[in-house]
Amino acid sequence: MKATIIGGGGRVGSCAAFNLQCAGLFSEIQLIDANEAMAEGEALDLLHGSAFSADQKIYAGDYAKAADTDVFIITAGLRRQPDESRLDLINRNVSLFRQILDSIQNGGYSRDAIVFVVSNPVDILTHLAQQTLSLPWQQVIGLGTQLDTARFSSLIADELDLAPTQVKALILGEHGDSMVPIWSSATVNGLPLEGLPGIDHTFQNRLFKRTQGSGAEVISRKGGAGWAVAQAITDTCRAIVGNEKRLLPVSSLQQGCYGIRDICLSVPTVLGRQGVLAHHEIKLWPREQLGLQNSAKALKTTLSKVEG
Ligand code: 2OP
Repeated sequence: MKATIIGGGGRVGSCAAFNLQCAGLFSEIQLIDANEAMAEGEALDLLHGSAFSADQKIYAGDYAKAADTDVFIITAGLRRQPDESRLDLINRNVSLFRQILDSIQNGGYSRDAIVFVVSNPVDILTHLAQQTLSLPWQQVIGLGTQLDTARFSSLIADELDLAPTQVKALILGEHGDSMVPIWSSATVNGLPLEGLPGIDHTFQNRLFKRTQGSGAEVISRKGGAGWAVAQAITDTCRAIVGNEKRLLPVSSLQQGCYGIRDICLSVPTVLGRQGVLAHHEIKLWPREQLGLQNSAKALKTTLSKVEG
């Protein structure tokens, strides 16, 4: 299968390309970037290492070479300033994003293609992609709260000195300020996390706030995320390429789960080669469900302000 990373010359796109190369998921990885020299440089650097990794073609290309893409990964966008919320990015990024969607349409794309949005504000841009491209809504997804869920689980494990791969703590809703921590299902190796000593409301609030602010925390130190977001992208692509039917917190057009419709955000989503296979309305605490509905309201308000 072939991936085309639009924004492949940037930090997120190039980290994703490297992670995908190491994972060996795709037989072809094409990088497209407005900065063609950067895309060429990243592709060349990756190609030099391909003798160690997997038998795949990695190259810098263009939209004309993207028509046979199985998974479009869109990472291009202007980065958020540390004191700027993701939604503040919206109008700076919407016009750029619309140009990208036009280029995909002009270059052509397969009816079976998956469009995977990473650029921020990811839920809003996923919605725009779903409205613009003539693909079934199931085939247009956003990274959503995949990265937030990884951050939440990793930070909890780090604080409690547990194995990060055994801590499963979900974040749902908006990839942004209104994201919702799902403590009701948080576990360590399948055992309820709540049972562990020290996990009181203070701990829960502190860890969630740290998670919520993680994007800005990284931006303020190194300018923007790269490694963890690349792993979140690869994990999502693994479910698609392998038709794994894993349940992931990715963003897609809501069809009524938790009473939410007509907006893109993250609910428990079964993902496979055809994209979204199901949304599952897993039982949540009342305050978690309310938080999800607030997320939907916040995103709909923002969507209503989108220019053009
Ligand atoms: C973040 O939260 C890139 O939106 C991503 O860092």
